[in-house]
Amino acid sequence: MAMLNPQAEELNRIIKTHSPTVYELLSKKGKAIYYPKKGILAQGQAAKDKEINATIGTACEDDGKPMILPSVARHIDLNTKDVFPYAPSEGLKPLRDKWKELMMWKNPSLATKEFSLPVVTCGVTHALSMVGYLFIEETDEIIMADLYWENYDLVFTCGYGAELKFFNFFKNRKFDIDSFRETISAKPIGKKIVLLNFPNNPSGYTPTKDAAKEIISVLTEAAKAGNKLAVILDDSYFGLDFEDGIFAESFFSQLAHAHENLLAIKMDGITKEEYAWGFRVGFVTYGIKNGGSELYKALEDKTAGAVRGNISNAPNISQSLLLSAMQSETHAAEKELNKEKLKERYVKVRETLNAHTEYEKYFEALPFNSGYFMCVSLKNVNTDKVWELLLKKYSTGVICYSEKNLLRIAFSSTPLHKIEDLFNNIYSACKDCAS
Ligand SMILES: Cc1ncc(COP(=O)(O)O)c(C=O)c1O
Repeated sequence: MAMLNPQAEELNRIIKTHSPTVYELLSKKGKAIYYPKKGILAQGQAAKDKEINATIGTACEDDGKPMILPSVARHIDLNTKDVFPYAPSEGLKPLRDKWKELMMWKNPSLATKEFSLPVVTCGVTHALSMVGYLFIEETDEIIMADLYWENYDLVFTCGYGAELKFFNFFKNRKFDIDSFRETISAKPIGKKIVLLNFPNNPSGYTPTKDAAKEIISVLTEAAKAGNKLAVILDDSYFGLDFEDGIFAESFFSQLAHAHENLLAIKMDGITKEEYAWGFRVGFVTYGIKNGGSELYKALEDKTAGAVRGNISNAPNISQSLLLSAMQSETHAAEKELNKEKLKERYVKVRETLNAHTEYEKYFEALPFNSGYFMCVSLKNVNTDKVWELLLKKYSTGVICYSEKNLLRIAFSSTPLHKIEDLFNNIYSACKDCAS
């Protein structure tokens, strides 16, 4: 590998001084990356208010406004300066501040704690990829539940060569804490990367408060035993909790200050939380016990450097739109309304399952209490055949996990009045396949 740039060395020195653990967790790419302090973007920033600014590679009118095409601009109800120019690689500062403020509001236990400013990415997938870039080597394993979002294969295995190592998710309809403990505490002691995704895709499960306590304790014990842990928290479906008694805060709120050997990395975004799937804005936020502002700034710089080297920056228009929306007085109530609609569908799924005991011959639900999805585990029938029949005979599409004999059902996208039909169709398809 080429010699490290002195700016990368400087960031590494800061990181090592404030947290040898974080330094050890960095991948080779993570150690090499930096945000160019004197690069084109920084020099452009320095010249921003000058009389003559001939720095940055965008086109401007003679009065300094962005040179735009009216046929594009006429569809947009924002100031052109908040839309057309590049956004900074780390994201718009007011949006980052607002997201952090909201994070503390949504997670009251974070309110008094120090953690980094969120760095903006191009959606959560990109946030995951950037964390792969910074922390994952080809020799690393990533510990996660055996029910997981399939794109982790592409991001972590295909993208960074890591191996996914699974713990068993459920035992007796509860989080399998024994399997989790066994996997986390497996020897040798050393670097461990863990990924938790709650509410989970595909199961729609979030741990109860008691299970959450145990999960946090297992991770803290592993850190105390000398492991260096990077715990990636994929909070894509944050906030969609539909039952009392589940752990509704992000695990970040407890893990960001759990131990000096444990770096918590929160991934979240506007995709699901703000009902803006195609906008492509995500965030990466760091927390570690006794972290401190210098460490966090160095991590933010490295993350911004990784963003700069991969996509340069996330869309300005999406960031500006969301910032403006989140400052609106009606924003919180609008979100609550959508959540209520999703909860109604969730309740309908539960009612339907309770009302039809005959379903149990062919399928039963895995534990679910949150998010967009739930899964049914099929018995006595071939999952692929049921899936095919659902499409062909019953005009019904669900996601099939053949190896696990599961069907994933997105109640988030199913109209309320079709939920009962959906389950009846699954039952009929199973019956057809069994006969
Ligand atoms: C668990 C999980 N993580 C991440 C994502 C990706 O989010 P984004 O669309 O913001 O990249 C999804 C989207 O389906 C998801 O289910």
